[in-house]
Amino acid sequence: MKTQLIKDILVSQPDGRTLTVCGWVRTKRESKNLVFIQVNDGSCFASVQLTLDRENPADASVNLNSIENELKKITTGASIQAEGKLVPSPASGQAVEVALVSLTVLGEAPADAYPLQKKNHSLEFLRENAHLRARTNTFGAVARMRSQMAYAIHTFFQDRGFQYVHTPIITASDAEGAGEMFQVTTLSMEKIAENGVSAGAKGMSAEKAAALVDYGKDFFGKKASLTVSGQLEAETYATALSRVYTFGPTFRAENSNTTRHLAEFWMIEPEIAFFDLNDNMDIAEEFVKYLLNWALTKCTADMQFFNDRIQKGIIDTLAHVVNSDFVRITYTEAVAELEKNADKFEFKPYWGCDLQSEHEKFLTEVVYKRPVIVTGYPKEIKAFYMKLNEDGKTVRAMDVLVPGLGEIIGGSEREADYDVLLDRIRKLGLNPDDYRWYLDLRRFGSVPHSGFGLGFERLLLYVTGMGNIRDVIPYPRAPKLADF
Ligand code: 4AD
Ligand code: MG
Repeated sequence: MKTQLIKDILVSQPDGRTLTVCGWVRTKRESKNLVFIQVNDGSCFASVQLTLDRENPADASVNLNSIENELKKITTGASIQAEGKLVPSPASGQAVEVALVSLTVLGEAPADAYPLQKKNHSLEFLRENAHLRARTNTFGAVARMRSQMAYAIHTFFQDRGFQYVHTPIITASDAEGAGEMFQVTTLSMEKIAENGVSAGAKGMSAEKAAALVDYGKDFFGKKASLTVSGQLEAETYATALSRVYTFGPTFRAENSNTTRHLAEFWMIEPEIAFFDLNDNMDIAEEFVKYLLNWALTKCTADMQFFNDRIQKGIIDTLAHVVNSDFVRITYTEAVAELEKNADKFEFKPYWGCDLQSEHEKFLTEVVYKRPVIVTGYPKEIKAFYMKLNEDGKTVRAMDVLVPGLGEIIGGSEREADYDVLLDRIRKLGLNPDDYRWYLDLRRFGSVPHSGFGLGFERLLLYVTGMGNIRDVIPYPRAPKLADF
């Protein structure tokens, strides 16, 4: 490759050799005979400085006229290719700089039209310009962190004997049973609406309306949706390969317009045979600490930026988490703690309630001041596949809650007993036929097994200290939002 990435240039010896720099101009400054251009290529946080001393150019071959012509075209955002000599920099904060030998503007970015000028833009403004925002410090850092965390996740599991499995994006089963699925169909909505009108659709019952739709004629010959979780399919592979994980997009049509919910998000779901709930908690805790530690030790420049400009003190906060034991309490204990402080909450806590975000924050930020793993939730508020405890009332669920965010991981030991699982499916009004294949895992060679789901964007919120989940995914999807 002819060009070098700026991340490599910046750590090279300033031995005067000539090299090529490509990137986008952040700033251009001129003072008397000196010109300074900051160029960034997104390969790292820092920019490289190109310099031109008009009275004393890098060498005799420099064509000053040609450079001056190009300089006129340079504004913030212009793309350039430059040749220059790598020399020590007298400026503080950078070891090297590039003394210009030649300069070519590849693409101009007229200042009166280019949306990203030098000044700080609001996150809202940048969300509307999501196709350009990766060129800013903040979104460049977030994008690199996303990539690094993905790398860390694969490394964690691959080093521990897990196989990466690819579960389907289109599915006919609702893994979480919450009914928040995006339907996938090739049937014509217009035709169905027409049929409905001719049948006098107003006031029609849901059953009658459903009967108007002939799913046999749909693409898959039955009702299908985008997956909300790859867990059930991952379980089929865990009961063959022992340790597996998925890492892919998931979709939820929940109408949650919050800073922590997306309609399309990425989830990592390890599924582990011969693991009980305690093993599951152990590996979830190890996993979170491993990822935070990776960010702190391998992404230092980006983390420094998040620490200085996005969330003051985030480095210390994450380091504290890496070095502390997560608290482990039961749902019953958690509710008792919350009930003591009932006056502090909008949603009054009681045994049987789903923990609200304010409850999760209280536990992690006020009571324990570190991550908390809550187990043993009432079966009514958790999915059908979780293993029932001896009390017949609670299930072996585990949610990992972290300060500043709340739930980052949801997981459980799975019900491995065929009869108990079938009973749960029936009692919840699900159709056992839809879960025939899933039940088979309990009919043939059933084993205790566990797993969990880590929301990738929740992790990124946590690590970067960013405040809104729409800013840690390139193109967020949320209610009324599917731009780009
Ligand atoms: O707790 P959830 O719903 O668990 C499952 O889907 C299980 N099948 C996981 C498993 O046991 N294999 O979701 C898991 C995690 C949550 O803890 C949260 O971090 C994230 O996924 N999550 C979301 N992230 C962004 N936007 C949403 N709408 C999310 N819903 C869940
Ligand atoms: Mg959950």
